[in-house]
Amino acid sequence: MSKFYYLLIMACPLLIVEMQETFQVGYDSGAHSINLKKIRRFLLLNSPSANYANYCSGCHGEKMDAFVDRKWKHGETKENLFKAIKYGYPDDGMPAFDTTFTDQETYELTDYILAGIKNVKKYDFKDVPRTSNIFSSEAQDIRLDTIASGINVPWSMTFLPNGEMLITERSGKLYRLTKEKKLQNIDGVPDVLAEGQGGLLDIALHPAFGKNHLIYFSYSMPQKSDSGVLATTAVMRAKLKGNKLTAQKNIFIALPFSKTRHHFGSRLQFGKDGCLYVSVGERGNEKQNPQNLNNHLGKIHRIKDDGTIPADNPFAGRNDAVASIYSFGHRNPQGLTIDPLTGKLWSTEHGPRGGDEVNIIGKGRNYGWPVISYGINYNGTIFTNITAKEGMEQPVLYWNPSIAPSGMAFVTGDRYKNWKGNLLVGSLRFKYLNRCVLKGNKIVRQEMLLKNIGRLRDVRMGPDGYIYVSVESPGAILRLTPIRRKMP
Ligand code: HEC
Repeated sequence: MSKFYYLLIMACPLLIVEMQETFQVGYDSGAHSINLKKIRRFLLLNSPSANYANYCSGCHGEKMDAFVDRKWKHGETKENLFKAIKYGYPDDGMPAFDTTFTDQETYELTDYILAGIKNVKKYDFKDVPRTSNIFSSEAQDIRLDTIASGINVPWSMTFLPNGEMLITERSGKLYRLTKEKKLQNIDGVPDVLAEGQGGLLDIALHPAFGKNHLIYFSYSMPQKSDSGVLATTAVMRAKLKGNKLTAQKNIFIALPFSKTRHHFGSRLQFGKDGCLYVSVGERGNEKQNPQNLNNHLGKIHRIKDDGTIPADNPFAGRNDAVASIYSFGHRNPQGLTIDPLTGKLWSTEHGPRGGDEVNIIGKGRNYGWPVISYGINYNGTIFTNITAKEGMEQPVLYWNPSIAPSGMAFVTGDRYKNWKGNLLVGSLRFKYLNRCVLKGNKIVRQEMLLKNIGRLRDVRMGPDGYIYVSVESPGAILRLTPIRRKMP
């Protein structure tokens, strides 16, 4: 405050000089605007960050969100940006700033924006060649061992008590991977709608699988209608008997069915409370679904192992809400895992452009989509100016640019001593494994592992203490085997 008054007093003589000048040369808009420029400069209000905040952030986002991750329409060189700012694209809604800024200020703004978007370039390792299966990281070197191949999109995997693995392929196949690394087909999977992001998706074992042999999987369930085939996210429970499923039962069907082929969400995670948590995306209809408690879409649900509703669910017993809802206001949550230390449920969510999130999921909480967000629409337009609101949760972290986060897992056990307690998250878009170092419930550091490994779909801790990842096209299951660091 005091700095403001100081500047105001300092500015008075200048204001008088400027006014005199104005009257001497006559009041035309050109002279007037030059004077405004001088005043601003004198008041030290012309730093590029201040100019950005004052003149650009309203339309382009506080944190240059629209420029980061942008498909540039008019080029991304310094000169292109300079031209855009100086002369504008009035027909597209971009005002001209030639009467606001000096050329120097405009250049400083372009530098400011170009420096800001450099952030994106750090993910630019499309051309990093994979010459070996040894990867080094800050704290641990690893060798990647191929455990299974020949599966196009291995959406998820889980481990049987005898060391075998179950793997879902998005196209609709369920495999058993034997100890001899043979893939065997498991019969009895329902018809899935393998289109767009849909298909056979996540898989989980019942916590007491050893006794009851129950498995759970999520999939996009098709439904014929007059306007074509509709689909929704469903969860089936079945008994695994040899390589056959029996006693199949749909224990959860998200309503309503919809025409779209995306945002099925659909991670499954048993909590320490024995309940099954199911994430469901908003199916591309953010206006109707995520904030409306009357449907299943854009929510994380909590059900019992037979699909019935726990009596202590946050909206159970209300006639204006779906009783299985545990949290809402989600876009497309595709990662769920339990923190082994705290028992808390963590999730990753595909947000809008520049707004992918990590959240800790709380009972009855609203995660804000599409009312609050750090991102913008994929076409570059703005849908909200607010990133926070009373009654809506803040993410633990958001990624700008969006990394398209998939499965997630906490590192447990002692095989990876320097990674212990870290949170691993797959990136579909940038094809790597993201390692997050936590301090309490905060992510304080991130490292990119396995650069250019392929669209990383899922990551799991095996019961043998190794980390496993699944990657797409060509699909494979890979094990991260820790190795001693070679001396330089
Ligand atoms: C009134 C809203 C508004 C304000 C204020 C605004 N812009 Fe824009 N800007 C737009 C729109 C709309 C576009 C056109 C987007 C398109 O063509 O896709 C645009 C385009 C641009 C482009 C070209 C982007 C490309 O894809 O080539 C640049 C650079 C730019 N703005 C910079 C700025 C800067 C710097 C400021 C602040 C000095 C600013 N804008 C202020 C709305 C605004």
